[in-house]
Amino acid sequence: MIDPVKIWPDNRGQHIQAHGGAIIDVDGTFYWFGEDRSPDNEPGTCPVACYASKDLMNWEFRGKVFDGRNPANIEGLWQIERPKVFHCKATGKFVMYLHLDGQVPGHWSRYRRAEVGVAICDTIDGKYEWLRSFRPLGKESRDIGQFIDDDGQAYLIFECRPEGGFHIARLSGDYLDVAESVAFIKSPIEGGAIVKYDGLYYCLGSLLTGWWPNANQYATAEKLEGPWSEFRDVAPPETLTYGSQSTYLLKVVGSETTTVIYMGDVWRPYELSDSRYLWYPLQIGGGEMALKPFEGWMPGPWEIDVGTGVTRIASAPR
Ligand code: DGJ
Repeated sequence: MIDPVKIWPDNRGQHIQAHGGAIIDVDGTFYWFGEDRSPDNEPGTCPVACYASKDLMNWEFRGKVFDGRNPANIEGLWQIERPKVFHCKATGKFVMYLHLDGQVPGHWSRYRRAEVGVAICDTIDGKYEWLRSFRPLGKESRDIGQFIDDDGQAYLIFECRPEGGFHIARLSGDYLDVAESVAFIKSPIEGGAIVKYDGLYYCLGSLLTGWWPNANQYATAEKLEGPWSEFRDVAPPETLTYGSQSTYLLKVVGSETTTVIYMGDVWRPYELSDSRYLWYPLQIGGGEMALKPFEGWMPGPWEIDVGTGVTRIASAPR
């Protein structure tokens, strides 16, 4: 069962720490990577955690796969956010992208470096080794998102504040660099996520309100390059996306149906370790995408059979 916004215990009984995350499927196992905000983290570190699951509902903690010990030796405040792991079939390596940010001399904000960091590993849940950080295509980059097209091509989505929008950028052959921007969408969107469903691309993101929720929006296009439609609300706007912010769109292709899951973060900025997850199957098709409860006023507990792709409402003890 997936019970939106509730504490989500892992196999150890601890609340899952994979905020701002995403999921990749490797050989029939789902791997969920995200920010590990555990209160008992070694002070001054921003680790990335990895969890594994066969059914998307029960998650096994596989460890803090990136230790996040100020890898770029930034002076002053710094942080790591929104890690995303890609599997490069050409090299066999697992490549982690993350938003690396920090202060620059003369500025108080810890969001001035605006870079991506890259770390690499031979196995999906081994210890990721730091490679480097840089501004993709020389541009400021803050929130990042991940998209893998049906043809296997990997893209990094990155928000670029000075340009007032975000890029969908193709990774290089070895995934260690950002090769080219295939689309720039001039809309102030972060937490960017993309899914291809029934031949159409759907792009979803939040507005720029820091940790505070807003009415997340989506656009569609027949080609990744665009043209992209206008952005529209994905949920009734007064719900502020039910208090969540988009981080990823997970497509589960089953034997009976294809389900697209909205993965959102319900941030608790004063206690980030207690941030929750709002995952819910989207109503999608024909250019429309909607996040709305199947019953009641708030997305409630539900289940998925990843074999068939079928979802159903679950009953949860309240
Ligand atoms: C919004 C971003 O989406 C989050 O990842 C985080 O960077 C917050 N801003 C910080 O305010």
